[in-house]
Amino acid sequence: MPVDKIRLLGIPGSLRRDSNNLAMLKTLAEKMKNGIELTIYPLDSISLYNQDLDGALPPAAIVAFKDAITASDGLIVASPEFNYGIPGVLKNALDWASRPAMKSPLNGKPVLLMTSSPGIGGGIRAHAQLRETLSGCLSRVIARPQVAIASVHQKIAGGRLIDESALKFALEGIDDLCNEIRLLRGRG
Ligand SMILES: Cc1cc2nc3c(=O)[nH]c(=O)nc-3n(C[C@H](O)[C@H](O)[C@H](O)COP(=O)(O)O)c2cc1C
Repeated sequence: MPVDKIRLLGIPGSLRRDSNNLAMLKTLAEKMKNGIELTIYPLDSISLYNQDLDGALPPAAIVAFKDAITASDGLIVASPEFNYGIPGVLKNALDWASRPAMKSPLNGKPVLLMTSSPGIGGGIRAHAQLRETLSGCLSRVIARPQVAIASVHQKIAGGRLIDESALKFALEGIDDLCNEIRLLRGRG
């Protein structure tokens, strides 16, 4: 049987070196098998959105970011919540990726959302805002129980997610994302 190759792009919503969300993505990337690859795309190179620069010759880092989204079969956005919402670096990157409107790399792209927080909420307010923003970009946000990891600082050690139930829940989310990608391929 040929392997059903699936390329996923993981976007961390935090630039912090020891980011919990980055650690979650790194852990998940190491768990991928059966032709599924998860590549992490840190947002350090993404400048502030300026529509004046978003013309025929956008910054090279933006072209590379949008190309990486286009080349992927699906996205995993793993983000903290900042002040009850989406961190600015992530919203800014999504704004770049959202153009041109209705024809952007995000249009029709399957997306699994994950949020985490050291608090008890797991970042669900950022989760809800991300769903809304990506719906505006015409992305196919996976409908499933929210992957929102509470008390995440107690579940990370050595830069990896070590909590078995949180890891299982996140991996089930990736299963749902891959099933959506296969479903879309079947229609193509
Ligand atoms: C500016 C700022 C705002 C924050 N606001 C929230 C918040 O609204 N809700 C929440 O659960 N955590 C909040 N936090 C805590 C973050 O969830 C925590 O710092 C988290 O570890 C950041 O994600 P990271 O580990 O991926 O860098 C905030 C942190 C910062 C720095």
